[in-house]
Amino acid sequence: MATPKKFAERHAALAAELAEHNRRYYQDDDPSVSDAEYDALRDELVTLESEYPELREGSISAEVGAAPAAGFSEVAHRVPMLSLNKALQEEEVADFIARVRRFLKLPQDEPLAFTAEPKIDGLSISLRYEAGKLAIAATRGDGQTGENVTPNVAFVEAIPNELGGKPPEIFEVRGEVYMTHGDFEALNERLVAEGKRPVANPRNAAAGSLRQIDPQKTADRPLQFFAYGWGEASELAADTQSAMMEVLHSFGLPINPLMRVCENLDDLIAAYRAIEEERAGLAYDIDGMVYKVDRLDLQRRLGERERRPRWAVAHKFPAERAITTLEAIEIQVGRTGSLTPVAKLAPITVGGVVVRNATLHNADEIARLDVRVGDTVEIQRAGDVIPQVVRVLTEHRPADAVPYVFPDKCPVCDSQVVAEMNPRTGKPDVVRRCTGGLVCAAQQVERLRHFVSRAAFDIEGLGAKQIAAFHAEGLIKTPADIFTLAERDAKAPEGQRLVDREGYGAVSVKNLFASIDERRTIALRRLIYALGIRRVGEISARILARHFETYAAFRAGMEALAAAAKVRHAEASEAGETEIDTGDSVRADLEAIDGLGATVADALEAFFGEAHNVDALDALAAQLTVEPETGRTVASPISGKSIVFTGSLEEMTRDEAKARAEVLGARVTGSISKKTDIVVAGPGAGSKLAKAEALGLTVWDEAAWLEVARASD
Ligand code: IVH
Repeated sequence: MATPKKFAERHAALAAELAEHNRRYYQDDDPSVSDAEYDALRDELVTLESEYPELREGSISAEVGAAPAAGFSEVAHRVPMLSLNKALQEEEVADFIARVRRFLKLPQDEPLAFTAEPKIDGLSISLRYEAGKLAIAATRGDGQTGENVTPNVAFVEAIPNELGGKPPEIFEVRGEVYMTHGDFEALNERLVAEGKRPVANPRNAAAGSLRQIDPQKTADRPLQFFAYGWGEASELAADTQSAMMEVLHSFGLPINPLMRVCENLDDLIAAYRAIEEERAGLAYDIDGMVYKVDRLDLQRRLGERERRPRWAVAHKFPAERAITTLEAIEIQVGRTGSLTPVAKLAPITVGGVVVRNATLHNADEIARLDVRVGDTVEIQRAGDVIPQVVRVLTEHRPADAVPYVFPDKCPVCDSQVVAEMNPRTGKPDVVRRCTGGLVCAAQQVERLRHFVSRAAFDIEGLGAKQIAAFHAEGLIKTPADIFTLAERDAKAPEGQRLVDREGYGAVSVKNLFASIDERRTIALRRLIYALGIRRVGEISARILARHFETYAAFRAGMEALAAAAKVRHAEASEAGETEIDTGDSVRADLEAIDGLGATVADALEAFFGEAHNVDALDALAAQLTVEPETGRTVASPISGKSIVFTGSLEEMTRDEAKARAEVLGARVTGSISKKTDIVVAGPGAGSKLAKAEALGLTVWDEAAWLEVARASD
C-alpha cells in the first residue's frame, strides 16, 4: 500500500524539523524546543512509520537507544536474575560482612573469602547454552521475565555461539553486555553525520544496540561482554566463585581480568581503591565494585531476600557532581497525592548524561537548603538515581531572589494541601499531600500510569503518554475503562472512533485492543501491585498474593479487614480512646507475616475502607481472570504450610531457617494462632511453645526441622 501523499509530506516535514532540532541540540548546543516538544514530534513520526512502514526506509527514526517499535517475545528466567544490595560507605561493607558471618554463625577467626570485581555499567543478559550451543539469549527484564534477543546476540562477537571445553548439558551464563568508550564515540560521530540524534551514554548505546528489532543492525554496533555468574546449571565444575570464573573462561567466555580474591575487609577496600584509581583509564564504564562470598556452599546457604542475594553487595563509587543554575521549581503530584518539588535546571552534563531536572524531595528539604529560583546550585547524580540538589552556592545568589513558598493548594486540582500526621511517630509527615484523592486529575493519571507500568499490567501500546491523552479526553478514567475501551469504541459514532484519531490507524488500534486482551488474564501479585496502594510495592504485593493465594480470598480478606477497622474506629471513638484491639484476625494474620507489618496493614485498611476504591476494583475484576499465586518454590513436605520458629537453633540461625522455610514453600509467621501448622521450637522456647501445646499444634524440635530443611539440598 502506497503512503497517501499527505502523510508522506507530513513525514518529510517532521523528519526535516527533527534533523534541525538535533543539529541545534548536539552541534550548536542551543536547543530551541523543550524535550517534551521534541518527543511529541518524534512520536508523531514514529506513529506514522508504524502505519506506513515504507516511510521507515532511511528515516531519521532509526536511531540507537530508542525503544523498539514492536515487542520481542518474552522469556521466563528459570532462575531469576537478581539485583544487588548497595553499599556506599566502607562501614556498609563492614556491615555486609558482619551480616554474612552472623547469618552463617561463622566465628570471627573462621576465614571468609570474597571475590572483588568491577561493576560494569551495561545491561545484564542471560545466555542459555544447551549441549554447548547457544539456545536462548534474554535480557534481564523484570528479573523473572526478559526479552528474547537470541538473533541479536548471534551478531555479538564476544559471545560465543558454541562453548568450548567441557560445558555441562545445560548452562546459563549471566553477564554484562557493554560498549567501549571508543566504539561509543565512533557510533555517535556516525549518527551525527547522518543527521541523527546521538545517544546519551555507552550504557544506553549498548541497550539500544542489542534491542534492535532488525538483528542485522546489532551487527553494525560493536558490543562487548563479560561473564560474571550463572543461572541454571546442570552441573557445577568448581566450588568457589573464583574457580567458576576460571571454568567460564575455559568455555571461551570473556571474564573481567580485574577480579581478585580478598580475605577480609581491608583487602576489599584496597581492591576498591585500586580500581577507582584505574577507572578513568578503563575502556568501559564501571560504577562500583561487586563483592561476592567466594564459597558456593555458603552462597547457597545464604540464599536471597527480596530478589537480592545475601552473599553479594555492590560497593558504589561516589556520585558525580556539577554546578548549574536553578531556573524554576515545579511541583509534581504523585499517585498517592504526594507533592514533589522538582528543580528545573539549566542543562548540564554530569557523568556523560545531560541533566535538566533534579529532585528537591520535599518542603523540608527546600527549607533546609534555602534554595531559591535563580540560585547557583551543585547537583549530583549517582548511577540510576534521580539527580539531587546537594548545595546552594549562596555567594552567587541574585539580589532579587526570594525564599520559596511551598504551595498550600494542589497545583492541579486546587484542593487543600496537608502534612499528614504520622500515626506512629505522632509528628507531621515531611511529605505534603493533595487531599483531592481521585478528584485530582494528576492522581488519577498517575494511578493509571502505575496500573499500566511494566511490573503491573504492562500493556503494550498503552504507556504513560497514551494514558495521559486518553484520560484527558475522558476515554479512560479508571482501570476498568481500559478493558471496556474496545466495546465502547465499537459503539461510538462514525468519526469519533479511535481509528479516526490523529496518529492512529486500523492496525495500531487492532494491536492495542489485542494487547489489552492479552492482559485480561493476570497474576494475582501483579493485580495487587497495580492497584497502587500506598506502601504496597512489588514485594508486599507478592507476599500478599502468596498469603491469600486466590483473588477471591484476597478480596474477602480485604473486606473483612476494612470492616473490622470500621468497627474498631467506631468503638474507639465511643470509648474515647484512640484505638482498641478487637482482635480481628485478618489484621493479626497480616501483621504476623514477615515483611508486612502494621504500616502495610494500615495502608490496606485505608484503601479498602474507601467505597470508591472497592467499586473500582470490583468493576476491574469483572473484566479479568486472576491467576492464583502458585509460588516459585521447591515442592516439600512444608509447602503451603504456615510455620513459626521459636527459641534458639543450634545448627543454623533463625534468619537462615526462615529463608530456607520460604524456599521450601512455607509461610513464616511471627506469632502463633490456631491456623499455624508447624512450630519449630529450639531450646529456650517459652510462651509460644506453651501456646502451641495448648492449641494442640504440631511441634518439631531442631532435628526434625533439619531433616526437612536439608532433605532437598
Ligand atoms: S552479580 C546475583 N557482578 O549489576 C548477583 N552484577 O545491581 C547478580 N552487574 O543486574 C549480579 N557488573 O547487570 C554482578 N560484576 C558484576 C556485575 C553485575 C554489573 C550488574 C548486573 C545486575 C546489576 C545488579
